[in-house]
Amino acid sequence: MTKHSLTRRDFMRLGAGAAAASMAARATILEPKTLWASPRPVPPSDTVRFGIIGTGIEGCSLLQASLPVPGIECIAAADLYDSRHEAAKEALGGKNIDTTREYRRILDRKDIDAVLCATPDHWHRRIVTEAAEAGKDVYCEKPMSHTVEDGFAMIDAVQKHDRMCQIGSQRVSSILYAKAKEIWDSGKLGDVDTIEAAWDRNTDSGAWVYPIPPDASTQTIDWNTWLDGAPKRAYDPVRFFRWRCFRDYGAGLAGDLFVHLISGIHFVTGTTQPAQRAQSTGGLYYYKDGREFPDLLWTMYDYPNFNLVLRCNHNNAEVGEFFGFYGKKGTMTIHGSTLTFRPQADCHQPEDYSIYGWPAKLRNEYLANWAKEHPAPKPGEFHIGEDEEVYTPPPGYSDMTDHIANFFHAVRTRKPVVENEVFGNNAAIGCHLSNHAYFQKAAAVWDASAKKITNG
Ligand SMILES: NC(=O)c1ccc[n+]([C@@H]2O[C@H](COP(=O)([O-])OP(=O)(O)OC[C@H]3O[C@@H](n4cnc5c(N)ncnc54)[C@H](O)[C@@H]3O)[C@@H](O)[C@H]2O)c1
Repeated sequence: MTKHSLTRRDFMRLGAGAAAASMAARATILEPKTLWASPRPVPPSDTVRFGIIGTGIEGCSLLQASLPVPGIECIAAADLYDSRHEAAKEALGGKNIDTTREYRRILDRKDIDAVLCATPDHWHRRIVTEAAEAGKDVYCEKPMSHTVEDGFAMIDAVQKHDRMCQIGSQRVSSILYAKAKEIWDSGKLGDVDTIEAAWDRNTDSGAWVYPIPPDASTQTIDWNTWLDGAPKRAYDPVRFFRWRCFRDYGAGLAGDLFVHLISGIHFVTGTTQPAQRAQSTGGLYYYKDGREFPDLLWTMYDYPNFNLVLRCNHNNAEVGEFFGFYGKKGTMTIHGSTLTFRPQADCHQPEDYSIYGWPAKLRNEYLANWAKEHPAPKPGEFHIGEDEEVYTPPPGYSDMTDHIANFFHAVRTRKPVVENEVFGNNAAIGCHLSNHAYFQKAAAVWDASAKKITNG
């Protein structure tokens, strides 16, 4: 710390007014640096043609977000629910693409280079491995795997067939998280031993209580195919539309939301392995609607160099989406789309606790010496909040478009993506550790050599 860059706390200690202390920190709107933000014309011969499998909530979002990316074209979509064929066309602005219930028709097409997979989690393994075998590059939604075993089978298939694979946690391509990574890499935070993150919501939609469309029936939905390897059961629209609530198809809060938090944290911190150990708690407090997952979940993870605490709560949205990286020299938070770096008040403080157990004479001598060695800055020599930095993306910024653009850039150039199959698998293992610990009521330990979770 120089005398020209006091922290807010220092300033307050010097007796400055609260008005000055609330002065705004330096705020920066980040500049998109991505491929699609300054599109170059792509010759038609270089256009990457793709198909999409699963055009529900996320599939349609992906299609919409893909529209600004130059040099790509969606030509086919597969979904087991007929109304979603229409939804896919609408998401593409009314484009008349080939639609089908049979995803194999997409994989068999020679004019398709890549596929996006946005099915529920229990279908990811089969679609990714079959897509790789069919010679397609594949963008697969998060969480990459439904089980630990699935993840390693997917890695094998992608690598065996030398395909590009990207998993769909879009924070990894976000300019906000790239700035967070830059701050992390700069060492400004000092040693970080604690990271926490939360994603709290308080709406029925946030808790996956999605309405059932009135045309949903066994006529419009291929229910038996949708079940795939899951136990056979009679048509149940609640399971079809709210699959996140059920263990046969989804992974609850950990698979839906923790995976985004873990992916963001792995990206920022450069972590290339799953957590070593996890302990979970939580409960089902409000949404007692037959779901098999809690509506409040906490997990504490051990990594080699830091501890991580994650929380998702469906019953209070005060915190929203939040990350805190707590270092010896500084704190970095991401709250929604605002990134803040704040230095910690450093050690240039006079001792003001234990000296009250000293006689007044010694105490006063100590304080006088301290003041001599650390002269207070003169008024006008410093600015409050000078060390605090605030960053936000520009209005309308879409990290999903960036993520899609990064995938197709890799498809075209064969240059690696950050969130490849190994990255995605590490993040998904974090979800499986969390759920294992929650349901087993035991610490979940990652055994990397056996590629298995065991009870700790
Ligand atoms: N990256 C994100 O921010 C984000 C956001 C939401 C969902 N997701 C992920 O996207 C995936 C899909 O989630 P969703 O909310 O869109 O679910 P959804 O239920 O709304 O849509 C899934 C669609 O996949 C279709 N489908 C299932 N199996 C199929 C098959 N074999 N062939 C063809 N179609 C098939 C279903 O018919 C359904 O229409 C999940 O893995 C989810 O975790 C990611």
